[in-house]
Amino acid sequence: TCSIYLSRHGQSEYNACGKIGGDSNLSAMGEAYALKLADFADRIIAHDADSGDAQAVRLWTSSLLRTKNTARHIKHAKIKHDGKDWIQFAPRVLRNLDEIYAGVCDGMTYEEIQKTYPHEYEMRRQNKLAYRYPRGESYLDVIARLDPLIQELESYREDILIVGHQGVLRLIYAYFAGLDRDEAATLSIPLNTVIKLTPRTHDCIEERFLLHD
Ligand code: G3H
Repeated sequence: TCSIYLSRHGQSEYNACGKIGGDSNLSAMGEAYALKLADFADRIIAHDADSGDAQAVRLWTSSLLRTKNTARHIKHAKIKHDGKDWIQFAPRVLRNLDEIYAGVCDGMTYEEIQKTYPHEYEMRRQNKLAYRYPRGESYLDVIARLDPLIQELESYREDILIVGHQGVLRLIYAYFAGLDRDEAATLSIPLNTVIKLTPRTHDCIEERFLLHD
């Protein structure tokens, strides 16, 4: 891979009211971000075409509405640049990129979880990485389903933009940035931000782009 661009989906209706999980659509603010991200994607293309070291830019989303809709304004096409064929952002929808599934707590706010399942809440607080929601997933479970994707990613020679969720992006980020798993589970991956990672032999260059008005 040349560079990996990570972006959370734009703000969702659930984000706006503090609920986790679900499959809600974008809020007005999230929709505005989707437009800015498409604009940003155009700039990645321009840069890559000029530097000439990639023939394609890939695009991955999860199977959830909020990531697919965040990516939907990104233009994808086959183009010719300096006589070479380029494939821009051929989108791929991957269920393995779906957000950590909170099982019985899906669709609740953290306050509701604490009230309804105080023991679960406490267990998670004590070991967020290994804690598995009843009928849901743990971060370790998510690491297991991301593993094949990360291997595939590492074999690519093109740039990639991943539109994902905070939980899964934490783990992908931690993998490339060389952070511990324990640290990964509590890392903050902000909204409205594209994180660009360029892995090198012994480290990884990081840049952040805050996409605002
Ligand atoms: O819905 C999941 C969040 O984006 C990640 O939340 O910090 O409770 O794992 P968490």
